[in-house]
Amino acid sequence: MSLEVVVLAAGQGTRMKSDLPKVLHQLAGKPLLSHVVETAVMMDAEAIHVVVGHGGEQVEASLQQHPVNWITQEQQLGTGHAVAQALPAIDTKSMVLILYGDVPLTPITTLNRLLEKLDSNSIGLLTVQLRDPAGYGRILRDEQGLVQAIVEEKDATTEQRAFKEGNTGIIAVSCEKLKDWLPKLSSNNAQGEYYLTDIVAMAVSEGMRVEAEVVTIEQEVQGVNSRRQLAELERWHQLKQAEKLMDQGVTLADPARLDIRGEVTVAQDIFIDANVLLEGKVSIGNRVKIGPNVVIKNAQIGSGVTIHANTVIEDAQIEDNCDIGPFARLRPQTHLAQGAKIGNFVEIKKSYIGVGSKVNHLSYVGDAEIGKQVNVGAGTITCNYDGANKFKTKIQDGVFVGSNTALVAPITVGENATIGAGSTLSKDVAADTLVVARGKPKVVEGWQRPKKK
Ligand code: UD1
Ligand code: CA
Repeated sequence: MSLEVVVLAAGQGTRMKSDLPKVLHQLAGKPLLSHVVETAVMMDAEAIHVVVGHGGEQVEASLQQHPVNWITQEQQLGTGHAVAQALPAIDTKSMVLILYGDVPLTPITTLNRLLEKLDSNSIGLLTVQLRDPAGYGRILRDEQGLVQAIVEEKDATTEQRAFKEGNTGIIAVSCEKLKDWLPKLSSNNAQGEYYLTDIVAMAVSEGMRVEAEVVTIEQEVQGVNSRRQLAELERWHQLKQAEKLMDQGVTLADPARLDIRGEVTVAQDIFIDANVLLEGKVSIGNRVKIGPNVVIKNAQIGSGVTIHANTVIEDAQIEDNCDIGPFARLRPQTHLAQGAKIGNFVEIKKSYIGVGSKVNHLSYVGDAEIGKQVNVGAGTITCNYDGANKFKTKIQDGVFVGSNTALVAPITVGENATIGAGSTLSKDVAADTLVVARGKPKVVEGWQRPKKK
């Protein structure tokens, strides 16, 4: 049977106290709903239907890139009603997996375990053993342990409320059966809603098998209803990611003080100090050392690189054995060749820094191409912008740029040229020359400073 996924995301999320629809709140830098859709995509679902209601237009607009079929549920009349809105769009011959837009961290392996047990004559429930089942529908089993029904907390007897097995809400059932059962749901219950969960009792009364897959790790099926729950789930997820990195050969100064909002690939013997944030796609080579308070977004970092404290890197490629920071800022399209060294209070943008070249102190390098073994002195500025257009600076191999030099682009400095400190240059510098462009000092002997009257 082919698989189609229905994601329920029409609820209001009142407890978030937010103008933003709940499923757009972010976990690990990504909307809750994106986590769920990505799971469905990775499961090779034939189609993914997302049922939206409250703030539906905003949800759709923010997640346009997702390959989903958007379905509007005008009024939130219950989970059964929500699934019914998607039914006309689902192929009758498929198996339907129902997920929640606010339950972001269910592993594919768990969902596959649920699906593996099913055929057209059975229905699958993901349930969870809870210390405190408050708020959950309870699973009712008979003496043989077979699932009989789900009873919502508000409809449950005191005895039923004591049951610790909760309904996660995640259900798998054939579309054919849904088409048969959903129209028969009644809203005659404590909440006046059409409960999807009532299909379980229907299945049992028809003699169908109910397969319950019991989850033991609560967080895997934890929904987000409040900002507290969001924070708790975020911390749990971050710890899992940190543990994965440690398993792959990374030493973390403090696993609780690393945040990953994206995909990180690592080699071995990496050290990451406290309070590091990795975003987007980041790859880190062997023996890399990352100091405290470093932020890295979308970067490839080669082997043997050291990144000192408080450095910020975005959209950069860093080859082996570079040394960066502390307090360096590498902006998009920075490419550091092997062994380049970028020191404190240096900003690099859209520039190539050649093998072994150094920009050690207080410089701005933008739209530049710097060759091998170049030394860029303290306070050097590439003046790349005339207020309207950007221009390139080229500094060829072996150049020495003296401190406090302003290079007014477009400009090329030829191989092995030397620029004296304090120069402002707007014309090309020929190879193997010394250029100094500095005002002549005026000397007044015996000068008396003005005195206060
Ligand atoms: C539901 C289950 C309950 C389970 C719990 C797990 C039912 C009747 N109850 O209860 O057994 O233990 O989830 O968290 O299914 N939604 C819609 N449209 C609606 C109503 C809900 O899209 O008309 C969506 C919500 O956005 C949410 C999900 O369905 O993502 C669950 O809805 P919610 O109201 O939170 O259900 P619970 O009462 O918590
Ligand atoms: Ca809920």
